[in-house]
Amino acid sequence: MLFHQQSGMKAICKVLFLFVWCCQFALAIDDPHSYSEPEKARVTHLNLDLEVDFEQRRLAGIATWDFERLSGDRIVFDVRHMQIRSVKARGKLLPFELGPTDELLGQPLTVLLPEGVEQVSIAYTTRPEAAALQWLDPVQTAGKEKPFLFTQSQAILARTWIPCQDTPGVRFTYEARLKVPGDLLALMSATNPTGLNPEGVYSFKMPQAISSYLMAMAVGDLRFQSLGKVTGIYAEPSLLEKAAYEFADTEKMVTAVEGMFGPYRWGRYDMLVLPPSFPFGGMENPRLTFLTPTVIAGDRSLTSLIAHELAHSWSGNLVTNETWNDFWLNEGFTVYLERRIMEELYGESYATMLAQLGYGDLTYTLNEIAPEDSKLKLDLKGRDPDEGLTDVAYEKGYLFLTALEQQVGREKFDPFLRRYFDDNAFGTLNTEEFLQRVERELGSDLGVETWVYSAGLPEGFKAPRSERFQQVDHQRLSFFSGGKTAEQLKTDQWTSHEWIHFLRGFPQSISPTEMAELDRVFHFSQSGNSEILAQWLVNAIHADYQPAYPALEQFLITVGRRKFLTPLYKELAKTPEGLKRARSIYAQARPNYHSVSVGTIDEIVEWESRPRD
Ligand code: BES
Ligand code: ZN
Repeated sequence: MLFHQQSGMKAICKVLFLFVWCCQFALAIDDPHSYSEPEKARVTHLNLDLEVDFEQRRLAGIATWDFERLSGDRIVFDVRHMQIRSVKARGKLLPFELGPTDELLGQPLTVLLPEGVEQVSIAYTTRPEAAALQWLDPVQTAGKEKPFLFTQSQAILARTWIPCQDTPGVRFTYEARLKVPGDLLALMSATNPTGLNPEGVYSFKMPQAISSYLMAMAVGDLRFQSLGKVTGIYAEPSLLEKAAYEFADTEKMVTAVEGMFGPYRWGRYDMLVLPPSFPFGGMENPRLTFLTPTVIAGDRSLTSLIAHELAHSWSGNLVTNETWNDFWLNEGFTVYLERRIMEELYGESYATMLAQLGYGDLTYTLNEIAPEDSKLKLDLKGRDPDEGLTDVAYEKGYLFLTALEQQVGREKFDPFLRRYFDDNAFGTLNTEEFLQRVERELGSDLGVETWVYSAGLPEGFKAPRSERFQQVDHQRLSFFSGGKTAEQLKTDQWTSHEWIHFLRGFPQSISPTEMAELDRVFHFSQSGNSEILAQWLVNAIHADYQPAYPALEQFLITVGRRKFLTPLYKELAKTPEGLKRARSIYAQARPNYHSVSVGTIDEIVEWESRPRD
């Protein structure tokens, strides 16, 4: 009997051992952009305690990590440009090692763990050049009186302000305490305060598990205004009212996605309007989307960006790409959801305009990049993920999902997506897992392999075609070759999307005189709509339309949004005089840009090699 019991126990132990051993592999993530080894020890919760020092441009404090130990005697974190002061467990100092520095990935921080230790506290200080952080002088804000700080962690910059396992495949909950100057409000991708604490001490909680690239913080002269039951907006006081008007439909958007793809699982959805140097249109930091102020057009015409960032609350934040090689799972799905939201709120013809503009971006990008980068599944090993994250993930990803939708019909596709979000909620997924799911639930023969693993676009795919744009084409043609004057064009009902399509279709050979006539009638050079202005300025450089240059200079010096800067600097760099102009403007503008934009523009104007031309 005893013998039997013992061998039974042995068998159980064996099975258990095998199970734990297998789990290791199930948990193993092959992320080429992280040194962390989550299959050995994997973080689960962060307690962050930081002081924000505007004078020194530093964050200093302690990150206390809880983790699960799976095998081995160590835990590895990613850090970059950071000073580690000490690592402690149970109040005692622990030995740690900082590995060799890689320009891009930073360093592995390895901590040797005594038996039973499942929590470590890392005391650290960031460097002024930490790439995620942008420290703004008062002149760079709307109010011009108080400084501002914000973070941008995606894709691999979280490690420059928090020692962390910086891979999207690892999720954790967090709580934080921030100490900031008493006249500034601090916000995070977490529960947020709605008013000032004169002591400058703020507490935050993020009870849902997120990946490190979604860690975010902003500190500035900010106010809150509610927009609805779960939605609200933070902005500098002078922008608050305009922002509240612009984003009035946000609550409706939340309801629309919930109706299609399941509950919003993050409590509140608030947004923060940042100063214009913010390098992106938006960043989907959970519970608090970060936004460029250039989305405020005065007529709510650019709010598809809100739909996009909100949609990430499902695709991206809830179901997350396992590594940056699967980035299209985040962005392709999000663009698909974004356009479904816009269709629900403003009709199909509106969403189709967005799809055609996106398709235009994609065809432009496909001409610019290496064929290898035009696959949905990427191989970014050894490269800056920032380089490989192009329109392909967004727009080819969108076209792929639209093709699936069209093949199986929305009656099948919508419940499929809903199950995708439900089954994988608060988890990570790679491309292969998604394809298996498609095959299991929607069937084979859907051509998925070609979409995902081949370069370019598959034969016979359906390009989006907007009827409203055909009207625009007609008007454009009648101006350039039909003898109509600008005044005679029928543009009454045009939204900003029709205008952008109009501007994108200008002939190569357009003359400065034609530009002048169009400017006189439509006032493009003074447009308050950043999308229209940015496209007009590209055309102006191309046509060498000099009267637009003051507006160009002003725009490049104040706005740091990379999507606008890149085509403008590229267009300037096409001629020797243009390049000279680009460099002289850039010399003034560069200190205003975030490191993310600096990285891109440095290359275009060859800043490193010829800094002072
Ligand atoms: N998550 C992205 C921004 C991002 C991507 C930051 C990759 C760092 C690395 C965000 O959701 C986004 O896609 N923003 C777009 C706007 C959108 C409407 C296409 C942008 O900033 O232009
Ligand atoms: Zn996005």
